[in-house]
Amino acid sequence: MKVAIASDHGGVAIRQEIKKLMEEMEIEYIDLGCECGSSVDYPDYAIPVAEKVASGEVDRGILICGTGIGMSIAANKVKGVRCALVHDVYSAKMTREHNDSNILAMGERVIGPGLAREIAKVWLTTEFAGGRHANRVNKIHQYEQTHL
Ligand code: RB5
Repeated sequence: MKVAIASDHGGVAIRQEIKKLMEEMEIEYIDLGCECGSSVDYPDYAIPVAEKVASGEVDRGILICGTGIGMSIAANKVKGVRCALVHDVYSAKMTREHNDSNILAMGERVIGPGLAREIAKVWLTTEFAGGRHANRVNKIHQYEQTHL
């Protein structure tokens, strides 16, 4: 699996923590920034990660900002992206099993690095359950194909 990760200035510490986790898990990743000492705009980081996921250049994406909300809104504008904003381990598991989410968003001003690490670990290792959930995800895909 190959993962693209990025954050704005509000998510740098968790981004570093998740990179460390992926190294421990021997997961290949590309870090798309930010290189920020100052304030940056989250869409400039969410959209490049989302486009890499949508094109298949990477399998998954992880985005962190202050709340995770801006990153998830921006990423979900890209066709083919199912970005889940997650702040608990149960949702991390469910959004992989039920929604086949391909991007994980988290907020560094909402949770600490320890919980973020557990969420990312579960999200990275849980498989999509398929079956009836695949029908539901396909309906989102169909809508994207016909309306967007
Ligand atoms: C930046 O101050 C903050 O707005 C951003 O990190 C994020 O929380 C937006 O949703």
